[in-house]
Amino acid sequence: MSETKRGLSSEARHRDRMEELHRISAEAEAGGGSERREREHKAGKLTARERIHLLLDEGTFEELDKFVRHRCVDFGMQEQRPAGDGFVTGFGRIDGRLVYVFAQDFTVFGGSLSETNALKICKIMDLAMRAGAPVIGLNDSGGARIQEGVASLAGYADIFLRNTLASGVIPQVSAIMGPCAGGAVYSPAITDFIFMTRETSYMFVTGPDVIKTVTHEEVTKQELGGARTHNEKSGVAHFVSRDDADCLAMIRELMSFLPSNNVEDAPRRATSDSPARRDESLNTLVPADPQKPYDMKDVVHAIVDDGYFFEVHEHYAKNIVVGFARLDGRPVGIVGNQPAFLAGVLDINASVKGARFVRFCDAFNIPLITFEDVPGFLPGTQQEFGGIIKHGAKLLFAFAEATVPKITVITRKAYGGAYCVMASKHIRTDANFAWPTAEIAVMGPEGAVNIVYRRELDKAPESEREILRQEKIAEFRDRFANPFVAAERGYIDAVIEPADTRARIITALRALENKRDTNPKKKHGNIPL
Ligand code: HXC
Repeated sequence: MSETKRGLSSEARHRDRMEELHRISAEAEAGGGSERREREHKAGKLTARERIHLLLDEGTFEELDKFVRHRCVDFGMQEQRPAGDGFVTGFGRIDGRLVYVFAQDFTVFGGSLSETNALKICKIMDLAMRAGAPVIGLNDSGGARIQEGVASLAGYADIFLRNTLASGVIPQVSAIMGPCAGGAVYSPAITDFIFMTRETSYMFVTGPDVIKTVTHEEVTKQELGGARTHNEKSGVAHFVSRDDADCLAMIRELMSFLPSNNVEDAPRRATSDSPARRDESLNTLVPADPQKPYDMKDVVHAIVDDGYFFEVHEHYAKNIVVGFARLDGRPVGIVGNQPAFLAGVLDINASVKGARFVRFCDAFNIPLITFEDVPGFLPGTQQEFGGIIKHGAKLLFAFAEATVPKITVITRKAYGGAYCVMASKHIRTDANFAWPTAEIAVMGPEGAVNIVYRRELDKAPESEREILRQEKIAEFRDRFANPFVAAERGYIDAVIEPADTRARIITALRALENKRDTNPKKKHGNIPL
């Protein structure tokens, strides 16, 4: 009798627990409730769970810490302790590969970061580091949970530390899909790539109200820190998307080019594009007139697998082009000067943009392919006062320290310091090719003649001066503005027919497949920041 009683009560207990499990689970999944969810949808945003669903392969999400609740007892917070506390964290798969993910749920206390939310993020970051898998953060938050004070700030700092330690070990990606303000911006800022949604996201350290009080400037949130501002002006963000769904699809696309960690190679993808494919259009792509622009992206498209180029930082510092593509199925990082914008000159923004991309590729074993057509560094007080010396040095430093396979193709101009910087032979580039149209010299013929022949030109009768100048320019161009002087010295490995560029790069890449190179042992270098 007593046995049966015990059996029944344990069954009932079991049932109760199951019900509790489902009730808490449903509570966590309800987030801030249907009204707040509706508000988000009306604003063109998805909820945290909807976002994760779109980001990951169907049915792969494993949630962690769904039962976590905050511990705050101030300001009546003990009355509102929703399961999960708003942040959704866990792991899943993208194209079958493991990723860790967190998503801030704006419907729960405005997605604000509590002490426990910080612990949830730290937990998945620690797991990701141990598993060697990327972390993707979907940000949509009012910042530090005001009711928790310094405990929330401490949580941010714990995350920043992990972001820093994970940098260069696992890829870290941030999507800004709502507000991201105050010190909260520094976690995304440390990560490798920032995506922003076009109308619904903004990032700033201090908002419009504080700015108005301190500097009397009037500015809207979008003007100050919207996707356009950070993609075009500040360069803080690398990608802009139409909306949430577009953003998540772009992240999936980016991940297809990246290894899971710094000791793996990026995943290869089978291609039907022949490694030996010639492209005759390249033979006539560079205009005969060296002052005329052309689009370096046409060069990239003609060479890479299936003409597919996934551009990074597309809207910022357009005088340099960076992004991912595949050659022979293998992901590569592309860096190209862009003659179609500011003649492809290197300025502060282009240098910083290029340097950060080069360092990412080097950290994650992604070979670097550089297409060079650069007239030099941009002259002017604005650039010099802005520190072009140290910023230009960043790009030089990044290329020089990179030990991944490096291949450079000079399509036209390679002048002055910019020649050295753009993955020249002298800074350990493995294969340096030049097209017959290449001009490799200390400076352009016009500038060179004005300096070298100044006295001679000054002495010449005025009526003959211009003829003499043009003669000297032609002579200089003939003598120096070609690839053969550099090739004679072995600074260029081969002058190649442009149509064959794809085949030549792929052959070089195959030869470099087992490349091993290291830098001297040190704690870390001191890149000129
Ligand atoms: C607690 C917050 C919150 C926060 C918003 N909420 N931010 N709760 N802590 N930081 C709550 C609101 O009370 C509200 O609750 C719900 O979230 C939605 O907020 P609304 O204001 O109604 O939404 P909206 O009008 O869209 O405005 C969004 C917002 C605004 C611009 C983000 O909420 C805002 O200004 N929040 C404060 C931002 C801020 O100053 N944070 C601290 C930044 S400093 P109900 O219950 O009404 O739905 C910081 C330091 C980090 O973060 C330091 C790291 C080192």
